Amino acid sequence: MTSPKILKTASTAANYALHQAADAVVFHGDCMRLINEIPDESIPLAISSPPYSIGKDYENTEDIDSFLDLHKRLLPQLVSKLQPGGSLCWQVGSHVKNGVVTPLDYLVMDCMRAMPEMKLRNRIVWTFGHGLHCSNRFSGRHETLLWFTKGDTYNFDLDAVRVKQKYPGKRYASGPKKGKLSGNPLGKNPGDVWDIPNVKARHVEKTTHPCQFPVGLVHRLVRALSKPGDLVFDPFCGVSSTGVAALALDRRFLGAEVMAEYIEIGRQRLKSALAGEAEFRPAEQEIFVPDPNSSVAREPDPIEWQEVVRIRTQPIQNQVRACA
Ligand SMILES: C[S@@+](CC[C@H](N)C(=O)[O-])C[C@H]1O[C@@H](n2cnc3c(N)ncnc32)[C@H](O)[C@@H]1O
Repeated sequence: MTSPKILKTASTAANYALHQAADAVVFHGDCMRLINEIPDESIPLAISSPPYSIGKDYENTEDIDSFLDLHKRLLPQLVSKLQPGGSLCWQVGSHVKNGVVTPLDYLVMDCMRAMPEMKLRNRIVWTFGHGLHCSNRFSGRHETLLWFTKGDTYNFDLDAVRVKQKYPGKRYASGPKKGKLSGNPLGKNPGDVWDIPNVKARHVEKTTHPCQFPVGLVHRLVRALSKPGDLVFDPFCGVSSTGVAALALDRRFLGAEVMAEYIEIGRQRLKSALAGEAEFRPAEQEIFVPDPNSSVAREPDPIEWQEVVRIRTQPIQNQVRACA
C-alpha cells in the first residue's frame, strides 16, 4: 500500500487515481476542476455530502439558490463520469433560514430529473439521537441519502450488508414449510431507515470538522454498491470519511476538498486506514442505552428542577436561543 497523495493539480490527481491505480488521492482545490479531468464513464461509485449553504465555516453563503446553482452545474458533469451501472449517493439535510425548513433532497431530485438515466433506488432516512434542541418546531433528528444508479443494471450486494434479525428463530406457521425456520441465516435487509449516531463531541471519529458524516454510514454503502479494488469518489470529502470507509474495505479513494485543515486531518485518517488501523464506529453497533442508575439517567431532585423552571421563565432576552 502507498501513502495518500495530496495534490494541487487536478489533472495529476485524476491521473494517479484513474490511470495509476493509486490507493488514495485527494485533490486540494475546487471539485469542479477535478471532475473536468476525470474520463467519462470511469467512476463506479460516488458518495458525497455537499455544502448545505447554511453559513458553515467553509461556506461563503446562506442562500439556498447557491445550493441549487451549484447542483445544476455539478450533477450533470458528475453523472457523465459515472460508469454505466455505477451508483451515486448524495447525503443532504435541510436548509434552515429564519425558522423555515427546506429539505435539500427535494432540490437534488429536481436537478436529477434532467437526467432520466439516473434511477432513484432508495431515499434512505439517516436518523440520529443528538442535535440542537428547537423551541419553535420539532428538533431535527434526521437527514436523507439519495441513492441513484446510472441505468437499470447495477451492483447491489445485499448479503454484504444484512443485519441481525429481531426474531431469528421465527418459523413458518403453515404451508409445506410449516415448522421450518423462515428467516435468512445471514440476517435481514437493513431497510431504508438507518439509526447511526451523528459525529458529535465524544464520538470516536470526531475531528474539528463541523459536519463530518459517520464512517459507518458510508461503509454500508461501499459494501453494498462496489467491489474490492473499485474507485470510490467523494467530490466534497471534508476529512475523508468516505476514504476511510473505502480503504477499510480494500477499495480505492479519490476526493476533493478546498480547506487545507480538513485535508491534513483526512490525510492522517487515510494513512491509518491504509495501515489497517482506521478507528470508526460500525453502523451495526447497538445504540448506547444508558444505565438507568447512572446519575445522568436518574430523575433529579424536584427542587433542582424548580430552579431550572425559574431560569427558563425569565424574560426571553436573558436566555440563549438555541435553534436557528
Ligand atoms: C458537508 S462537508 C462534507 C464532510 C465530509 N462528508 C466528511 O465526513 O468529512 C462539505 C465539504 O465540502 C468542502 N467544499 C466546499 N466547496 C467545495 C468545492 N467547491 N470543492 C471541494 N470541496 C468543497 C467544504 O470545505 C466541506 O469540508
